[in-house]
Amino acid sequence: MRIDVVTIFPKMFAPVLNESMIKRAQAKKLVQIKIHDLRAYSLDKHRKVDDRPFGGGPGMLFRPEPIFRAVESIRSKNEKQKLKIILLTPQGKKFNQHLANRLSRTKSLLLICGHYEGVDERVRKKLVNEEVSIGDYVLTCGELPAMVLIDAVVRLIPGVLGKAESAHNESFSSRGILEYPQYTRPAVFKGMSVPKVLLSGNHNLIDGWRKKQALAVTKKKRPDLLKKEKKKR
Ligand code: ADE
Repeated sequence: MRIDVVTIFPKMFAPVLNESMIKRAQAKKLVQIKIHDLRAYSLDKHRKVDDRPFGGGPGMLFRPEPIFRAVESIRSKNEKQKLKIILLTPQGKKFNQHLANRLSRTKSLLLICGHYEGVDERVRKKLVNEEVSIGDYVLTCGELPAMVLIDAVVRLIPGVLGKAESAHNESFSSRGILEYPQYTRPAVFKGMSVPKVLLSGNHNLIDGWRKKQALAVTKKKRPDLLKKEKKKR
C-alpha cells in the first residue's frame, strides 16, 4: 500500500511514523508513506496557501491551486494506481473500524489535511472521493486525524501485526464487542486477587467466564454496541 499525505505541517508526522508498528510496516515495505508539504506547491512568492472567503466571513480557506498542483504531481508519479483521495474534515463520514478495514484494502490513499476554516469547495467537488472525520469534535487541523487514520489502517495490512496480535484484532473487530478484563502477575496485588477461574487451568471454564465478562463490560460501558450487534443478526 502507498499513502501520500498533503499537509502544511510536514514535521508533525515524523515522530508518529518513525515509531512502533508504523515504522516496522514501512521497514518491511508493506506500506510506503510520503509526506508532501503543501507550501511547496504554492505559486505565491511567500508560499501562501490560504486566502479570505468570497462573500466575507471569519477565517481563511485553503486556495484550490496548491492542492490541485500537489495532487497532480503525486498522481503523475503514481499513474498506474487509482488514487483514493480523502479529505480529513469534521464534516466527513465518521471514522470507525469498518472504514479502517475497507481502506486497508486500497492500493493507494492520498490524505489531504484540512485546515483553518476549511478548503475551497472546488477541491471537494473535483478531487476528493471521500471526506472523513475522526469524531464529533473540532481539532485545529487535519494532521492528527490523518495520523489516526494511518495508524488504524496500517495495522490491518496483512503482515504488519504478528500472528497473536492479528488473532486478537480479529476477535475484537468481528465480534463488535469490548474486550474481557485481563490480569497478569502478581496473582495478588495490594490485596486485590485475580479471579480464581483464570488460575484454574480449565480452558472451557476460562472461555465461558471471558464471554460473560465481555458481554457484561460492553453492556456497562458501550450498550450501543450490543444494539448494533442485535440489528446485524
Ligand atoms: N479537522 C478538524 N477536526 C477534525 C475531525 N474531528 N476529524 C477530521 N478532521 C478534522
